[in-house]
Amino acid sequence: MVPGTDKGDTTLSAAVFDKQDEFKDSAQAFEAGSAKLVSVSQSGDLNAIKAQFGEVAKSCKSCHDMFRTK
Ligand code: HEC
Repeated sequence: MVPGTDKGDTTLSAAVFDKQDEFKDSAQAFEAGSAKLVSVSQSGDLNAIKAQFGEVAKSCKSCHDMFRTK
């Protein structure tokens, strides 16, 4: 993260700078979830895809709750 990028027209929370480790963990959980979604999609099993999509959406929300200001 670049210092100062929490100023101006952004909804990026300053918490990203205070809690960089949590932010990285959150990003990694999201990456892992997305990678899994890709492999589950290839199975063509709609219920499994829906379930995994829900997991990825949860990681969107948990990161936004912590690190987005609006
Ligand atoms: C690792 C943390 C993280 C994850 C995971 C994440 N986001 Fe975000 N997202 C952010 C942050 C931080 C911002 C604010 C960035 C800014 O304004 O500079 C943001 C902004 C956004 C915005 C712009 C909205 C606004 O208020 O300006 C959208 C749309 C969005 N995210 C969608 C998603 C979706 C959909 C997912 C999951 C598929 C996702 N994000 C996953 C951290 C994350």
